[in-house]
Amino acid sequence: VVVPVIMSGGSGTRLWPLSRASHPKQLHALVSEMSMVQETVMRVSATREDFDIAPPIIVLNERQHELARLQLTELGVAPSHYVVEPVARNTAAVAAVAAALVAREYGEEALVLLLPADHHIRDGDAFHAAITAASSLAESGCIVTFGIQPSAPETGYGYIERGNRLDPGYRVKRFTEKPDVATAQRFIATGDYYWNAGIFMFGSGTVLAEMDGHCPDISSSSRAALADASVVDDLVVLCAKRFGECPSNSFDYAIMEKTSKATVVPADIGWSDVGAWSALWDIAEDKTPEGNVARGDVHFVDTQNSYVMTNGRRVGVVGMDNVVVVVTDDAVLVSDGSRTQDVKALVTALQDEG
Ligand code: GDD
Ligand code: MG
Repeated sequence: VVVPVIMSGGSGTRLWPLSRASHPKQLHALVSEMSMVQETVMRVSATREDFDIAPPIIVLNERQHELARLQLTELGVAPSHYVVEPVARNTAAVAAVAAALVAREYGEEALVLLLPADHHIRDGDAFHAAITAASSLAESGCIVTFGIQPSAPETGYGYIERGNRLDPGYRVKRFTEKPDVATAQRFIATGDYYWNAGIFMFGSGTVLAEMDGHCPDISSSSRAALADASVVDDLVVLCAKRFGECPSNSFDYAIMEKTSKATVVPADIGWSDVGAWSALWDIAEDKTPEGNVARGDVHFVDTQNSYVMTNGRRVGVVGMDNVVVVVTDDAVLVSDGSRTQDVKALVTALQDEG
C-alpha cells in the first residue's frame, strides 16, 4: 500500500499579500478553481485504480487545520488523519511522524509518498508513471526522489547528482541542498544533476531506521510526540512538550544529504513549486498575446508580460513591462516581475515593524 502524506505547514511568504500565515498559499486557488491542497489530494486520488493507494494523511499547523478540513470535505475526500503540529519543526520531523504513523497503521512495509501541498504538476499522467516507477525502488528499500531537469542555477532547491543506473531510475551519488549560485552553475554545467522536486517515496520502516541512525534526536522526539498525541477521531494533535523538544531541520539536510539509500527517478512532469508570483505568470495558460495575465477585474493598456490579481477592486495598468500587481482587501503589492523572490525580504521587514 502507498500512503500519501501531504505536508501543508508552510506559510508561503513570497506570495504576500495573498498568502498569510492563517491562509497560506496552499489553501488558495492559485492555478485552477481548486486550492493547491485540493489539487494535491486529487492528484494522488486519481491514481487509485492502479495502485493500492490509501486515503491521505495531512500534516499541518493549528491555524490552518479548520480551513484545510473544510476544503477537503467540500471535495468529498476524507483523509485518514489530520496531524496537527503544536509548533513547526520543519520537514524532517514531519517525515518522522508520518513514517511512524504509517508504520503503526499499515506496517513497516507500507510506502509513504511524501508530498508538498503547494506544488503545481501540469502532466498528471507523467506524474503517475513516475510514482509507479518510484514504488518499485521504494519497495526494495530505497529512498526515492523525483528529479527535475534544471533550467537555471536556482539556489532554493536541492541538487541530485545522478549515479549508476538502478532500473527504473538511478542511484544518487550526492545530494546537495541549496548550494550557492557558483556551485549550482557548476552542477548544471556537468549535465549530471537534477533539481529535487521535494517529493519523496520510501518504506516507513526504511526511513525510521535511517532517521534513528542519522538524526536520532528528531526520530525519538517525533515518535514520542506521536505516541503521546491526543487523538479524537481523525484528528491527531501531537504532544506539544515532546514535539517542542524536537530539533528543527529539513528532511533534505537531515536525511537526503546523509543517506546512502537515495535513488532518483527522472520526472518530466511539468513541475513548478509556485514559489513566487513570477512562477504563477510562468505557468499561466491564458496569457494574452502581449503576455499579460489577468486575475479579476483588470485592464491593460500598452503593457506586456505582466501579472495582475485583484480581489474585486478594478485595476488598470498603463505602459508597463514585466510587473506584478496584487490587490487584496488590506494590502497592495507592486513588484518588478524579475524581483518577486524579494517579496520575502519585504515580508520580513513588515514583521520587524510589528
Ligand atoms: N506540516 C509541515 N510542517 N509542513 C511543512 C513544514 C512544517 O514544519 N515546513 C515546511 N513544510 C511544507 C511546506 O509547506 C512545503 O509544502 C514543503 O513542506 C517543503 O518545505 P519548504 O520550506 O517549501 O522547502 P524548500 O522549498 O525550502 O525546499 C524543499 O523543496 C524544494 C522544491 O520545492 C527541498 O526538498 C528542496 O530540496 C527542493 O528542491
Ligand atoms: Mg518550497
